[in-house]
Amino acid sequence: MLPARSCEAARVETWDAIRSRRNVRTFDGRPLDETVLERILDAARRSPSSMNQQAWDFVVVTDRAALQALSKVWTHAGHVAGSAATIALVAPASSDADERETFQFDLGQAAMSMMLAAADQGVGSCHAAVADQGMARALLGLPEDRECMWLIALGVPADRPLRPIEHPNRRPLHDVVHRERW
Ligand SMILES: Cc1cc2nc3c(=O)[nH]c(=O)nc-3n(C[C@H](O)[C@H](O)[C@H](O)COP(=O)(O)O)c2cc1C
Repeated sequence: MLPARSCEAARVETWDAIRSRRNVRTFDGRPLDETVLERILDAARRSPSSMNQQAWDFVVVTDRAALQALSKVWTHAGHVAGSAATIALVAPASSDADERETFQFDLGQAAMSMMLAAADQGVGSCHAAVADQGMARALLGLPEDRECMWLIALGVPADRPLRPIEHPNRRPLHDVVHRERW
């Protein structure tokens, strides 16, 4: 068992990353160090998945022209164009509702792990949905049996560095938490 002080140190770092993460849509144009990017990707790889199926793949895009093209897959994906890197979250294409739901949950967990690993390193992140599957598949070179479910844009925030947010724009804790019963 770890001594109490080590546990405390680890907990504070994680808590800072959780409190600092926010959706960042403007980036300062600098590329990310490969070690920084790799840690973000490794956070995704280490995420839990249903029955440990790991039915995911991650396509990393850093080329500016490719990012600009990718930003057109959905009306609200414009921030992808100016990102240092965007990670496409890819899952098997499936018409089975239960399977799709499981893939979505698994990818959601991978996305959050990535975003926290990013925040921990001062890197901003923002989701984007994918409306035009055909365009995403062509741009990313995906096989026919795969779908790009989400994009996670990454980069150093252009506006202000990530810092713990004291009063996040969220429903109050007492409103969302129900103890013992609803
Ligand atoms: C499932 C999901 C899909 C999202 N899709 C988009 C999107 O397509 N474009 C976008 O700009 N933000 C997208 N977002 C970001 C949300 O708008 C953001 O999480 C929310 O506004 C809270 O932002 P904050 O964490 O900075 O407070 C998405 C977030 C989630 C969880």
